[in-house]
Amino acid sequence: MFIKSVFNMLFFTVIFMTCSEKEKTLQEENIINITEPKTPLKNATKTFFVGMAVRANRLEDGSEYDKIIKREYESITAEYEMKMNVILPSKGNYNWSNADKIVDYAIANGLNVHGHALIWHESTPEWLENYSGTDEEFEQEIKEYITNVLQRYKGKVTSWDVINEGVNNSGGTLRNTVFRQRMGDDYMAKCLQFARDADPNAMLFYNDYGMCTNISKQNKVFDLVADWKNRNIPIDGIGYQMHISYLKPIRQQIEIATDRAIASDLLLHYSELDIRTNPNNDITVLTEERAIAQKLKYKEVVQIYNSIPTKNQYALTIWGMKDDDSWLLPHHNNDNEWPLLYDKSFDFKKAHTGFLEGLN
Ligand code: XIL
Repeated sequence: MFIKSVFNMLFFTVIFMTCSEKEKTLQEENIINITEPKTPLKNATKTFFVGMAVRANRLEDGSEYDKIIKREYESITAEYEMKMNVILPSKGNYNWSNADKIVDYAIANGLNVHGHALIWHESTPEWLENYSGTDEEFEQEIKEYITNVLQRYKGKVTSWDVINEGVNNSGGTLRNTVFRQRMGDDYMAKCLQFARDADPNAMLFYNDYGMCTNISKQNKVFDLVADWKNRNIPIDGIGYQMHISYLKPIRQQIEIATDRAIASDLLLHYSELDIRTNPNNDITVLTEERAIAQKLKYKEVVQIYNSIPTKNQYALTIWGMKDDDSWLLPHHNNDNEWPLLYDKSFDFKKAHTGFLEGLN
């Protein structure tokens, strides 16, 4: 017993010294602190799913992504492989392979799947964008698509973003997509109904960005929701994408937008969370100061979500695993961005700790 204690003491002293030296070097090199707590996010929450955006080719058993997903998350969303241009690239030719891989992986590992996204103007396949048939035929194509997807994943995919980004950024008007042009102003209601008819148990969401800061968009979305509810059009939840930065939206804006979703009695999904550290392009390495600012923002967002009534909670999904994978780098054509919870070496960032602290 005594020998074991002495052994343990010596062992941990050596480990501690090695770690603190390594940490010092890393800090000197301005690399993220490695002493962040490693509590898995999913162990810290009981009332909603903590989700991750995934890609099929990163799910091989034993890969670093796989290990982290299994350790940290309870829900996954396909980052792009369940969008229409991937599943139905040409008329009649369904390509389910990557979507199936993602869903099968979830089932094998007991994870929830949130489906994303049935109707999105940025993932409309060419053949539908330039559809040569009549408007009635177009609508039939969309009905068939939604029906096929929902039926294939019935009982496997819990929820769907039926409409993604259907409202313009200014003027509170409907985005003039091919769906609106071909199916009329009420196309979202039609798609929601197609989805409900195909899988009555799937929870149906409207998903959009800028929901905390863009009040004309917020107003329009909640007008649509109220109208759908009045007409008994199925709508279960609303997704706030939460592509935000360490500077904005401020806490109050997030709270007001969140309260509005609660007042409408819908589920609320913070669906694509990432927090930019360099929106003004004023840093070339992730500084300690900026990493802390990001950590505090993660904490704030998670705290707000964690404090809403559990009946309105669904999931809080993070849009990517590690900084250098983020869609924001190519999107802004700038590699100097570190928006996620892990750094490029799969090390925990302060942001991860902020997320954990928000849950406490
Ligand atoms: C992005 C993915 O992250 C990229 O991999 C893909 O190439 C394009 O789409 N809003 C959305 C998401 O609803 O589907 C987008 O995801 C990011 C913005």
